[in-house]
Amino acid sequence: MLFTAVRLSKALQLTLAVIKPDAAAHPVMLEALHQTILDNSFVIVRCKDLTWRRQDSERFYAEHSGRFFYQRLVEFMSSGPMRAYVLARVDAVRHWRALMGPTKVFRARYTSPDTIRAQFGLTDTRNTAHGSDSLESASREIGFFFPEFCVETWMEEEEPSFRTGQMNYDGQKQIHTVSTQS
Ligand code: RTP
Ligand code: MG
Repeated sequence: MLFTAVRLSKALQLTLAVIKPDAAAHPVMLEALHQTILDNSFVIVRCKDLTWRRQDSERFYAEHSGRFFYQRLVEFMSSGPMRAYVLARVDAVRHWRALMGPTKVFRARYTSPDTIRAQFGLTDTRNTAHGSDSLESASREIGFFFPEFCVETWMEEEEPSFRTGQMNYDGQKQIHTVSTQS
């Protein structure tokens, strides 16, 4: 029965989500964003707070080097604590980016007022959240933030349990874990 359900339902996808320093500096905002993630049916696979050194920021955003906003961006992203998540959901990459809204906060407020960036963002740089833009980026970015986490192993060993809802939410660690009850 469980085996059939696993085979018939669409596989979960992983994405990397980051709450940037503008929001991570405020505990109430961080809590509201965490709740938004839960309310939008994402499975929280990993969650960790960290602060980047400038070279981490430069390495992560190397694809943007040379753009007019690059210096501003790398400085901002290494300016204080942030929170990184590995999130799972069917079509997680697309759903998380839709929930974040457009990159530019002022556009987001106009076109997509219910999104995270519209509600919490401050400027086009300090726009509250990051999300991987493809499955390939997600894999690379998860490795950047969570070097000990193996996407392939998770897909093989844990994804089927999460897909069929065999999970609990651990309020202390603030992540979902596989339920051991049969
Ligand atoms: P992200 O990578 O952070 O999820 O954002 P995104 O895909 O929506 O946008 P992307 O083009 O990858 O830009 C990366 C980050 O650079 C900052 N940015 N500032 N001032 C500007 O016009 C500008 N444009 C981009 C933002 O912090 C953006 O999220
Ligand atoms: Mg991007």
